[in-house]
Amino acid sequence: MSDGTAITELAKRRGFFFGANEAYGGVAGFYTFGPEGAALKRNVEAAWRDRFTVKEGNDEIEAPTIGPEPVFEASGHLDGFDDMLVECGECGESHRADHLIEDASDVEEAESLPIPEVEALIAEYEVACPSCGAALAGRSVEEFNLMFETAIGPGSGQPGYLRPETAQGIFVEFPRLKEYARNKLPFGITQIGRAYRNEISPRKGIVRTREFTQAELEQFVDPDTDDPPLDRVADVSVRLYPAGEQEDPDGGYVETTVGEAVEEGIVASDWVGYYLGVAREWYERIGVDGDRFRFRQHLPGERAHYAADCWDAESEVSGETGDDPTDGDWIEIAGFAYRGDYDLSKHAEHGDDDFTVFEQYDEPRTVERAVVDPDMSVLGPEFGGLAGDVADALRALAAREPGAFDGDEVTVEVGGDEVTVDADVANFRIEAQTEAGEHVTPHVVEPSFGVDRTVYTLIAHAYDRDLIDGEERTYLSLAPEVAPTDVAVFPLVGDEALETLADEVVSDLRGAGLSVAHDDSGNIGRRYRRQDEVGTPLSVTVDHESVERDVETVTVRDRDTTAQVRVPVADLADELGAILDG
Ligand code: GAP
Repeated sequence: MSDGTAITELAKRRGFFFGANEAYGGVAGFYTFGPEGAALKRNVEAAWRDRFTVKEGNDEIEAPTIGPEPVFEASGHLDGFDDMLVECGECGESHRADHLIEDASDVEEAESLPIPEVEALIAEYEVACPSCGAALAGRSVEEFNLMFETAIGPGSGQPGYLRPETAQGIFVEFPRLKEYARNKLPFGITQIGRAYRNEISPRKGIVRTREFTQAELEQFVDPDTDDPPLDRVADVSVRLYPAGEQEDPDGGYVETTVGEAVEEGIVASDWVGYYLGVAREWYERIGVDGDRFRFRQHLPGERAHYAADCWDAESEVSGETGDDPTDGDWIEIAGFAYRGDYDLSKHAEHGDDDFTVFEQYDEPRTVERAVVDPDMSVLGPEFGGLAGDVADALRALAAREPGAFDGDEVTVEVGGDEVTVDADVANFRIEAQTEAGEHVTPHVVEPSFGVDRTVYTLIAHAYDRDLIDGEERTYLSLAPEVAPTDVAVFPLVGDEALETLADEVVSDLRGAGLSVAHDDSGNIGRRYRRQDEVGTPLSVTVDHESVERDVETVTVRDRDTTAQVRVPVADLADELGAILDG
């Protein structure tokens, strides 16, 4: 068990992560992953790619991290991607108003509250500025847009923004991606990459930063016909915390299976349910502690502007849980949103491309359609330059409301004016047409993972302490798949034969594809402690006994149990590979 301070201290001391640019005083919200952290993070990304791209049969893209303004106008981020800011009148520091309220009271998810209520709560709980202690009551709370703005090109350039989520890079390329998928739904596109948010109050180390990594999957489906392979995960156990339970003072978790959660409608979308199951299995595979993990449904006021329903994967990272299992320090590590057709419809509205999929029928179908074919020889002279717009308005009305053409005249609105046209001139009729298929705007289901927060959770859940020979040690029981290093090799120093054998062992193991740390400084006990603290699952020691017999041997020590076995050098790579693969 660990608190945030212990994790931050270990992360810094052992090279997992630390504040960036410290030589220049640093800037809050930016972190550098050191050698151990970068390796751990890459392994998490590789495990994610394996599960959500390769095993799901999805495709991956890599889009730019900067986008032009119209993209974010269309996506809604320019208008709606805000957090609540309150500025201290005394010291001028800015803080997230909703976080201050949560810290000062029992109120949860204060971001879902309207601004006047937040201002009232600041006064009610006598919230003080965390920087200087001055009272914040009476200060106004404002919306602050989280996107980093930049100029593309020289001079005043074209306004652009650093992407606040990787998702938009997938949505804007949908017209090409659907061609790649040969216009066949369902299909999924993944992307792992950096996202940027000008967070008002970065906090908890890498948990809330201004530059971070997301791993996102956009699953495009026809909501009427496409079902997920729910059977594959129907039996997966999940701990759910539905909105209704959160709002009920006596509410708690629903412990169930994915199949039952979908059947009983606790999770409304079967696609969302499917991915909750896949994610639950994946988190277990990489070492997230199931007892400190839950799926929490967003409260209605908490949902993002695009989401019809959303569940967060949350992990508990303090280890300070009480009798009530909802206690503790829970952080959101992923979101599972049903985005409907919001994104593709918005880009279709603002962009110039076709954001639908043309779904071919098995057999061509004959359908009756309302058709307007205006008599332009009459409409033209009478309406001059507006004739085209009038004709378009008539056609749109016919498609929408055929009954509007029942009388002798029909009225449409053009440029804010009402225009009346003879029914004969409009030439309305019903025609039988043969159609080969139809245009469908796909719905989007989005599992969106924060890689940095996953890394933080893995360290928090792997962090352990025990007593070895009366001496306390700290170790990280990381899953071998994500541990930064597979095996450490320690020669006893001062003996050339042992050092040569150790060099050979290192080279053989690296040749077999293992990541190996070669450590020959300090006594063996200290070297074990070092590797325990960075979570290396196995350590190999080359000692005098290694070269005493005909067959060369080494000892292999297990990080968690500290038990040791002697293994012939010739079998070492295979033996270690088998242990690491479990
Ligand atoms: N495309 C959907 C989306 O971006 P989100 O809930 O805003 O949804 C997804 O972000 C995940 O990204 C979160 O669950 C979290 O793990 C991670 N994330 C968001 N903001 C972050 C920040 N400031 N620092 C680190 N990770 C962050």
